[in-house]
Amino acid sequence: MSAVRWIFLCTLVLIHHGSSQFLDDNCASVNPFIEIKGSSRTPWLAEIRSKSKLICAGSLINKQYVLTAASCIDSQTQLVVRLGNFDGSVSDNSYSDNTYEEYPVSKAYVHRSFASATHEHNIGLLKLPTAVVYKSHITPLCITENASRNKSLTFEISNKDPKIGFWCSIGSLFGNSCADKKKQEYVASNLVGSPLNISIFEVVLKRYVQHGILSYRNPETYADVYTNVFAYTDWIIPIALEEMN
Ligand SMILES: *[C@@H]1O[C@H](CO)[C@@H](O)[C@H](O)[C@H]1NC(C)=O
Ligand SMILES: *[C@@H]1O[C@H](CO)[C@@H](O)[C@H](O)[C@H]1NC(C)=O
Ligand SMILES: *[C@@H]1O[C@H](CO)[C@@H](O)[C@H](O)[C@H]1NC(C)=O
Repeated sequence: MSAVRWIFLCTLVLIHHGSSQFLDDNCASVNPFIEIKGSSRTPWLAEIRSKSKLICAGSLINKQYVLTAASCIDSQTQLVVRLGNFDGSVSDNSYSDNTYEEYPVSKAYVHRSFASATHEHNIGLLKLPTAVVYKSHITPLCITENASRNKSLTFEISNKDPKIGFWCSIGSLFGNSCADKKKQEYVASNLVGSPLNISIFEVVLKRYVQHGILSYRNPETYADVYTNVFAYTDWIIPIALEEMN
């Protein structure tokens, strides 16, 4: 390719990217005035699987990258991503149809400062071997930079304490493991890596923008601790825009 042509193409890419506020312009949008029946409510949601078991969730953010928690990637061998019609539930194979697509992960990125003991910088990216073709049930979630957002590295969402129950708390006084079991159930009832989104309104569209990645659930306070995606866009965007394939 001639140098002139190359520069021309690069400029086009830059102009194109510069004019968009989203990593991928085709990202999650809905017309709030039209409800499409039967369409997936979370078409960006990805299952992350290891040794054919569901281990985590993630979010498709463009044609070739899935955003998740670093703790989902660390010390795993071969990861597989499933896209399409995932509802985020923790029970494996909870949907009966086979409308998903499965991709072996071709490259995994863990944030260089990730610390598994403290969950600091719990963010990672998974690269798919080929570009995904978007469909109504496979669509990316929006990633956007926003200078006016709070850049604290994590944020928490508190939950109601799970109901331990009278007999369970009495039992716990006598060393029964019932309350511990409830805590374990709470911790296991949401997948690490699950995205938390916020909606922003454009002229006639509502867009879903990713705000958090579930990093861990605190078994003492029952809070969900999220990695703040707005604090990591400088890390996410350059990797996700690397030459595809
Ligand atoms: C950026 O963040 C501000 C403050 O939270 C919000 O009001 C605004 O809508 C956001 N803009 C975009 C494009 O996300
Ligand atoms: C930013 O978020 C953190 C964590 O949620 C909070 O403690 C802090 O007060 C926030 N800062 C501002 C300026 O809103
Ligand atoms: C995230 O998106 C879903 C639509 O799939 C919506 O139901 C949910 O309320 C959104 N979350 C927030 C916090 O806006």
